[in-house]
Amino acid sequence: MNTLLEVDGLTVRLPVAGELRTVLRDVSFSLDSGSTLGLVGESGSGKSMTVRTIARLLPDGADVRGGVRFDGAEVFDLRADALRSYRAKDVAMIFQDARAHTNPVRTIGDFLTETMRTNDRMPKPAARKRAQELLAEVGIGDPERRLRQFPHELSGGLLQRVMIAAAVAARPRLVLADEPTTALDVTTQAEVMTILGRMQREYGMAMLFITHDLELAGAVCDETIVLYAGQVMERQASVRLHQDPLHPYTAALVQARPEIDRRVDRLPAITGHPTTAYEAPDGCAFAPRCRFAEERCRAGVPPLLQIGPSGTRCVRMPGLRGQMVRQQHIGSPSNEEIPR
Ligand SMILES: Nc1ncnc2c1ncn2[C@@H]1O[C@H](COP(=O)(O)OP(=O)(O)OP(=O)(O)O)[C@@H](O)[C@H]1O
Ligand code: SF4
Ligand SMILES: [Mg+2]
Repeated sequence: MNTLLEVDGLTVRLPVAGELRTVLRDVSFSLDSGSTLGLVGESGSGKSMTVRTIARLLPDGADVRGGVRFDGAEVFDLRADALRSYRAKDVAMIFQDARAHTNPVRTIGDFLTETMRTNDRMPKPAARKRAQELLAEVGIGDPERRLRQFPHELSGGLLQRVMIAAAVAARPRLVLADEPTTALDVTTQAEVMTILGRMQREYGMAMLFITHDLELAGAVCDETIVLYAGQVMERQASVRLHQDPLHPYTAALVQARPEIDRRVDRLPAITGHPTTAYEAPDGCAFAPRCRFAEERCRAGVPPLLQIGPSGTRCVRMPGLRGQMVRQQHIGSPSNEEIPR
């Protein structure tokens, strides 16, 4: 498969109260055409900033180091016309809150046909016909009537299907999906994910899929990246992430998730609070919360260590491999329980 997207040593700082604050630190990964990469991590870890940087939608005054290459072209070198075309045709975004990304006084038809009419100069009847086809493709019945409706007349699930229809309208090669199902109930989530997966296959699109949900990432994504404090902590094939995590943070996330077949009195929470990239301590950003931390973890930022096709930013790897999930309990472990 061809590499479609390459993110290379990306460090992003944003202006806050007169100073630049780091939100992403040395983020690198690549994504092949047609494949799906998950991006998971706690709130504030930099998931949305990563997709905003890829789409070049950062606030004014942002300082960006490193590169984002799409199909070999450096995204931050694109001039106005090329950038417009990149955003309109090459990448599409789907957001968590579909309602916030529609105009309440414009119909679904206006929303769906606007880009076709302005970018592709499609005549109105052809654009409406295409919009009807798109609604049918995402499983929305009676598309003619739906085009005349306003966003408030559609449920959250239907509106997210409209967003998917809008995202695939230009047949983009990359979809940036930022928690597209988080605001939906479980049944609707499953329906929307089925449609998104089908559209992705039919249109041959690559997808960067952001979620808080490790299970969902495991089900949907070929590979998953775990972000913490604006850094990539681990990258692995999604199917392996649960059985064989390669980073104590991933192991803690795996351990903290609820399981239907496991009866526990209390779910193990990850102790401490997530930190931002800006406030991260010297050395390993996860060290203050890591039960395996030792002196050398604080000596410097751990490099991303390659283990086969996977990567981990932990100096105690591969020594801890296979021991973290089993060894993690509720409460503080005795020193004997922690593998050294
Ligand atoms: N416009 C902004 N200016 C300055 N800092 C920002 C801005 N937007 C976000 N941040 C900071 O960037 C960091 C990463 O935020 P981001 O929105 O990427 O997190 P996230 O992983 O998407 O979290 P969530 O799961 O809550 O959506 C956070 O520390 C956040 O406070
Ligand atoms: S480097 Fe040290 S503190 Fe960081 S995750 Fe690995 S064991 Fe924990
Ligand atoms: Mg976010």
